[in-house]
Amino acid sequence: MAQDDKSPVRPSDRRTDQRIVGAAPAGARDEASAAKAVRDMFTSIAPRYDLLNHVLSMNIDRVWWNRTARVFSEVLRRPDAQVLDLCCGTGDMTFALRRQAGKSSPQVVGADFSHAMLQRATAKSSPSPNGPSQDAAPGWIEADALNLPFPGKHFDLVTSAFGFRNLADYDAGLREIVRVLLPGGECGILDFGEPKGAMSALYRVYFKQVLPRIGTMISGVRGPYAYLPASVERFPTPDEMLARMKNAGFAEASWTPYTLGIAGLYRGKV
Ligand SMILES: C[S@@+](CC[C@H](N)C(=O)[O-])C[C@H]1O[C@@H](n2cnc3c(N)ncnc32)[C@H](O)[C@@H]1O
Repeated sequence: MAQDDKSPVRPSDRRTDQRIVGAAPAGARDEASAAKAVRDMFTSIAPRYDLLNHVLSMNIDRVWWNRTARVFSEVLRRPDAQVLDLCCGTGDMTFALRRQAGKSSPQVVGADFSHAMLQRATAKSSPSPNGPSQDAAPGWIEADALNLPFPGKHFDLVTSAFGFRNLADYDAGLREIVRVLLPGGECGILDFGEPKGAMSALYRVYFKQVLPRIGTMISGVRGPYAYLPASVERFPTPDEMLARMKNAGFAEASWTPYTLGIAGLYRGKV
């Protein structure tokens, strides 16, 4: 796929002329500096991340997480299932998976490379009188999605909500998901899209003009909320993403738009 001019040219690209497609925060020169910039960015907004998410999405984020978890209810009902939520951040997708599992107790693990985000996830899963028992609480692990500390063919389900788009190399991310999935295992990548039709002009004004201003005001940090619309714009279109999933080794791949395409779920099966 062609990349735009803002894409960092990495040393390996020059050798092979195969450009790596992935997140490119401002100032990133290569894969390592892109990953560092992403980690620093999320670490800087971790204290306000949940509040910002709910305000900026007008709480639709909860609907999307729950809808995604429902899609995988069959896997989640299996008490022996192994489930990984990648780029889990403060854990809301992970908790939605756990809730969907109900009384069955699959092993649900959330992984992220920002320690500060994981600290908040851990705090949110502390036992409360009405909350799930600690046996059923998710586990948390600090790990890079591009280099997961798990053996191959380990998980029945891998999900990622609004995290995959931030990877420095999308193809490497997909290959790593395929590597850790068991044969027949499933994957769900929930992320933003660009709505088409009558809504799209209005949405673009909100996403590019209003959201960065509110995000900067509440978080007190400049940058991350300008990066968000830019990263969505750079992200492969659904058709391109489905082709990349097939190339990475998924036998089946599909995309379902959520809320007029503002978000959408990529589903893959190996
Ligand atoms: C927008 S947040 C999404 C958090 C959560 N899944 C949600 O739905 O709210 C993106 C998360 O991806 C994490 N992330 C980005 N690149 C990563 C990588 N290579 N490995 C692990 N985590 C990564 C960031 O640290 C951040 O917590």
